[in-house]
Amino acid sequence: TPKISQKHLLSLKDYSSQEILDLLALAAELKKPENKHKPLLQNKVLGMIFEKSSTRTRVSFEAGMLQLGGHAMYLSTRDIQMGRGETIADTARVLSGYLDGIMIRTFEQATVQELADNSSVPVINGLTDDFHPCQVLADLLTIQEHFGLLQGKKMAYIGDGNNMANSLMIGAAKVGMDITVAAPAGYAPKPEMVALANEFAKETGAKIQVTVDPVEAVMGADVIYTDVWASMGQEQEALERLEHFKNFQVNEELVKHANPNYIFMHCLPAHREEEVTTGVLEGPHSVIFQEAENRLHAQKALLVALLAN
Ligand code: CP
Ligand code: NVA
Repeated sequence: TPKISQKHLLSLKDYSSQEILDLLALAAELKKPENKHKPLLQNKVLGMIFEKSSTRTRVSFEAGMLQLGGHAMYLSTRDIQMGRGETIADTARVLSGYLDGIMIRTFEQATVQELADNSSVPVINGLTDDFHPCQVLADLLTIQEHFGLLQGKKMAYIGDGNNMANSLMIGAAKVGMDITVAAPAGYAPKPEMVALANEFAKETGAKIQVTVDPVEAVMGADVIYTDVWASMGQEQEALERLEHFKNFQVNEELVKHANPNYIFMHCLPAHREEEVTTGVLEGPHSVIFQEAENRLHAQKALLVALLAN
C-alpha cells in the first residue's frame, strides 16, 4: 500500500510525484482480473455527496467500494439537509461518526476544504469548479498504459481553462510531462494555477505553456485532451461559449499536427461536433472508454491508500 502523507485528496497539488506514481502502480495492480475483488476495505463505508450530476464518478466509486469489500452511499444534496442549509461543518462532523471516508462533488473548492477541515475521516474531491484530481489519476494511468511511461510525454489540452485544465497542468508537472493549454482569450487558466504548476514543473523539468493557438499546442503532441465548453453550472453561458470556442474544436484538421501515434482523451461526457468531432472521438486514436474505465482502478487505489489502516 502506498504511503500517502496526506489524510485527504483535495487536489493533486498536495501529493508528491512519488505518491502519485505509487498510486498509479497500485491501480495497475488492482486492475489485474485476479485482484478485482481483493477485500482490502472490508466493511468500510464511503459517503458520496453530490451537488452536481455524475455518471462515471458515482458509479466507479460505488462499484470500487463494493469490489473492495466495503459499501458506498449516494448522498444527493437534494435529499440531505446540507441542501436545506445545514452547515458544511456540521455535516462533516455528523458524517464522520458514521463513515470511513467522504467523497464530495460540489462547486467551490472552499466547500471541500471546509468539509475536510471539519471531518475526522478522509475527504476526496470528486470535482469542484477548480479541480478534478480523481479524473487526472485515471488519465495518467491511461497514458502510462498506452506509452509505457509518463516522463517526457507531451500533452495538448484544447479548450476551457477550467477544472480539468488546472488538474492536468498540476498532474503533468508532477510526473514530468509537458503540457500546453490552448484556450480562447478570456478562458485561459487562472495565472495562479499556471504559477502553481510551474512551481512543480521546476522539480521535474516539465514545460507548462498557455497559448491561444490550438495548432501550436497540438504540434508534436502525444496526447490531445479536451473537455466540454460549458461545464456544470455554466449552462446559461452555453450559447456565448459556443461562439467563443468555435475555433478550438478538436477535429480531423487539427489532429494532423500531432505525433502520428497520438492518443485522444476526454474526461466525458462529450458533446459531439462541439469540442470534438465524432470522427476523432470514435476514431482509432481515441482511448476515451479505457480512460473512463480507469476511473474505477485509479480510485480503488486511492481508496485503499486513504481508507485502509
Ligand atoms: N468525468 C467525470 O467525472 O464524469 P461524471 O461527471 O459522469 O462523473
Ligand atoms: N469541466 C467539466 C468536467 C466534467 C467531468 C465540468 O466541470 O462539468
